[in-house]
Amino acid sequence: KEIIVYNQVDSTNKQAKKLAIDGEKHGTVILAEEQLEGKGRRGRLWKSPPNKGIWLSIILRPDLHPSKASMLTLIAGLAVVHTINRYTKNQAFIKWPNDIIINEKKVSGTLTEMSSELDVINYVVVGIGVNVNTTDFDDEIKEIATSLANEEGKSFERALLVKGILESFEKFYDQFMVDKDLSHLINEYEDNCINVDKTVRVILDGQEKIGKAIGITKMGELRFVQASGEEMILNSGEVSV
Ligand code: BTN
Repeated sequence: KEIIVYNQVDSTNKQAKKLAIDGEKHGTVILAEEQLEGKGRRGRLWKSPPNKGIWLSIILRPDLHPSKASMLTLIAGLAVVHTINRYTKNQAFIKWPNDIIINEKKVSGTLTEMSSELDVINYVVVGIGVNVNTTDFDDEIKEIATSLANEEGKSFERALLVKGILESFEKFYDQFMVDKDLSHLINEYEDNCINVDKTVRVILDGQEKIGKAIGITKMGELRFVQASGEEMILNSGEVSV
């Protein structure tokens, strides 16, 4: 497998998509020291200062129905939480679907982008950002964002973490491609998910609902029980937690 390293890019996802369009093979990883226009979910900016974090994108060409691609985001979350927990004293958790949380603040997120035609995936780009050694956060995100260094009081070797994340990702990905769903990864996911058995507020079609998350389905949806006792299955595309 190939890893392409840039010093500075606009966004590794953007570069990965360009390379994918030009025929880059399955499994190639794009890594950058700095992103000038790192992209977050919901059109947000992902601050990616030089040499401080892990900004990487994985090009995948899975033989999968496009409706299943969003599960790759949960797999990325699993890979990151696993790797972080091997090296930290504080426990990291996944906030469904894929934010990684330490001490109630976000250290990592995943942005998955796909190109498909009819029922066939052309490529998927899984972009993972981890705040590793950043110590200065802008005022507007200080309350909600953190880094491994901030929480652990020491700096981390990024290469070691990258290796761990890619190895775990590959392991979970291979299992996922056998099952074509998360059936063998549900337990693993739920064990690391901060929402399970907790009260969650979800915004569904602009309407707030309060209830308890009880786990995920093999398709990666959140199982949610409303106060009325009625169970709902929530899709990450339509809900914010
Ligand atoms: C989120 O909003 O939680 C997703 C953040 C994803 C950031 C990563 S950094 C590497 C890759 N390239 C990007 O432009 N974004 C993703």
